[in-house]
Amino acid sequence: MKHRVFSGARPTGRQHLGNYLGALQNWVNMQDDYDCVYCIVDIHALTTLEDTSSLQKDIYEMTLDWLAAGLDPKKSILFVQSHVPEVMVLHTLLSMVTPLGWLLRVPTFKEKAKIQPQNVNYGLVGYPVLQTADIVIYKAEFVPVGEDQLPHLELAREIARRFNNLFGDTFPEPQAKLTLFPSILGLDGKEKMSKQLKNDIEIALSPEDTIKRVMTAVTDPARQYRSDPGHPEICNIYRLQGYFNPSQVDALADQCRSAKIGCVDCKMLLAQKINSNLEPFRERRAAFAAKPQYIKDVLADGAQRAQAIASETLSEVKQKMGLI
Ligand code: TRP
Ligand code: SF4
Repeated sequence: MKHRVFSGARPTGRQHLGNYLGALQNWVNMQDDYDCVYCIVDIHALTTLEDTSSLQKDIYEMTLDWLAAGLDPKKSILFVQSHVPEVMVLHTLLSMVTPLGWLLRVPTFKEKAKIQPQNVNYGLVGYPVLQTADIVIYKAEFVPVGEDQLPHLELAREIARRFNNLFGDTFPEPQAKLTLFPSILGLDGKEKMSKQLKNDIEIALSPEDTIKRVMTAVTDPARQYRSDPGHPEICNIYRLQGYFNPSQVDALADQCRSAKIGCVDCKMLLAQKINSNLEPFRERRAAFAAKPQYIKDVLADGAQRAQAIASETLSEVKQKMGLI
């Protein structure tokens, strides 16, 4: 039997290059070797959202990107978290075996409490417990995530271990599977690429808009004039050339250092490479976008398959905890 993988992402709408390189491609590649479950975690999104008016649209747009990127509903389970409410029941049950001290120490909780002091809600404290429930309700063994999620995964293992000690062996202790790419920087060249920071390049942009976006990127500040030699190692455009233009990346570094190429030309080359790389993705996306009913069907089918597993685990848990 294949080992099970679970991962989730918040419904952020149209995906950007950071999502694509950092997570999506990795998820796509795992589909043949693992039994994969991929989830759009809409309940987690509510811990930080006060305005939920775009939630349904964001879920839809994200699903289009996922399918077009190659997540295949014939191989993997793709679903929306709230469509399988069993996870919320398990969250409540796991909360009884999770010491509050563990949760208050989680770095993401402390950060969020600082960012939204007006909304330090109860759900925010329980965020990693819900994430644990996501993973263990499918008895997943591996969780492909970025480095920022390691504290959550550590906690998930601790909660699973504690449950197993108290009520008997039930859950595997899930392991993080770190993505190959370190986080992709945004157009500001400083922060991680993020929709919120508006420093992102959406993968579903038109070729023209992709060029416009790439042109706004911050490069080596030492290059004030076209004749100033550059330092590719500190330039985010150069890093992206490494992903999208591997055959030319070394030559470009030399040309940058000797000022034989200017940043505008370098960016244009990159944008063209991004466009040719994403062309098949964009064609598939347009085809999916023409079939909104199909998208709904995929998610409904995913929820049904996920629920079959989740309800079985939940019965086992209730039995072990003495509830039935
Ligand atoms: N916390 C994750 C993030 O912000 C999203 C998430 C929710 C998740 N549940 C999960 C990731 C389960 C992996 C496994 O990216
Ligand atoms: Fe960056 Fe390219 Fe400009 Fe060099 S030429 S600083 S690598 S954009």
